[in-house]
Amino acid sequence: MSKQVLITGGAGFIGSNFVHHWCQNHDGRVVVLDILGYAGNKANVSDLMEQARFRLVEGDICDGELVAALLAEEEIDTVIHFAAESHVDRSILGPAAFVQTNVVGTFTLLEAFRNHWQAKDKPADFRFLHVSTDEVYGSLEADDPAFTETTPYAPNSPYSASKAGSDHLARAYFHTYGMPTLITNCSNNYGPYQFPEKLIPLMCLNILLGKPLPVYGDGQNVRDWLHVSDHCSAIDTVLHKANPGDVYNIGGNNQVKNLDIVHQLCDLMGELAGDLPQPPRELITFVTDRPGHDRRYAMDISKIEKDLEWTPAYNFETGLRQTVAWYLENRDWWQPLLSEEYRGYYDNLYGDR
Ligand code: NAD
Ligand code: TYD
Repeated sequence: MSKQVLITGGAGFIGSNFVHHWCQNHDGRVVVLDILGYAGNKANVSDLMEQARFRLVEGDICDGELVAALLAEEEIDTVIHFAAESHVDRSILGPAAFVQTNVVGTFTLLEAFRNHWQAKDKPADFRFLHVSTDEVYGSLEADDPAFTETTPYAPNSPYSASKAGSDHLARAYFHTYGMPTLITNCSNNYGPYQFPEKLIPLMCLNILLGKPLPVYGDGQNVRDWLHVSDHCSAIDTVLHKANPGDVYNIGGNNQVKNLDIVHQLCDLMGELAGDLPQPPRELITFVTDRPGHDRRYAMDISKIEKDLEWTPAYNFETGLRQTVAWYLENRDWWQPLLSEEYRGYYDNLYGDR
């Protein structure tokens, strides 16, 4: 039987990619709850608006009454929870919104889902999948082994601390109430529809606009990059194959230094963009490091590979090339995002750096 899903944050980067993935692969009702804040964009799901199965609700996950009403009236059996404040730099500038949305918002959803699930006599096929990050595990040195699902939590930024808090709540709802929660911790995503504040789209746009490419610190920080389509297929796999209470790491087996990515983006842009205001590599500017900047993330994904037979499909070189081409072909998507608010944020973060 098809699932009736509530997807929170479904107008954001990963959420909207997932909504499309879901609609292409599964039947059943799809309800998106998104506050449509700076990173939530109606345009990301506008092509689905005509489908009778699809509904976009503009609202806050912290609004318990709204969430309870949606769960009941849409007869939701599955929540896939993406909604979050997601950018580390913004969490350093203003952590309160992160505690509110990521901790209080997740708690509100869990509590509403618990009431809904209990009112229906705890159906065994209900699921609450909480989407989280590798950043909850803290920072690795160059030679440390990759994070596993049993690595102790050691979050270092207000963002990762708030995600860690929400992970613990999802875990506790399984252990205390037997509520069928699942947790996925994923590495850095890249691909179409990523808001331009994050490393890869920010560099692409700055190259096109002839603006400096701000590399934090020495540029030697390492992230494990995964194409967003692979993240979507992994979440789908966990949802359908994992047991309630399970936790899975998701990653790309693909550790890259920031400066190497910036170099690759400069070269790809040089090749694909045609005329550019300035040779891209000349725009690289080393700026003051991010406070508390985690040095390295790396994910051990052997559990999901073995248990659920999921493995990433994208190769980083092909995925990055496709992503750069997407930003070149979709100026109409990103140009409106460079709003007054965004410029204010940008000047605040990068102005005196
Ligand atoms: P995003 O910032 O692009 O999207 C977040 C979405 O949540 C936006 O549409 C926003 O409007 C919505 N939202 C924010 N606050 C809300 C609220 N109070 N109520 C309802 N909606 C709200 O983020 P993303 O990169 O798509 O990340 C999605 C999820 O995946 C997050 O939980 C994040 O922690 C996690 N994650 C992201 C990455 C990554 O590399 N981007 C990696 C691992 C995990
Ligand atoms: P980001 O995309 O913000 O993801 P996260 O902090 O969640 O890993 O940043 C990825 C890496 O790129 C991180 O090490 C910080 C670095 N970075 C820069 O060097 N310059 C920038 O302008 C940005 C946004 C990030």
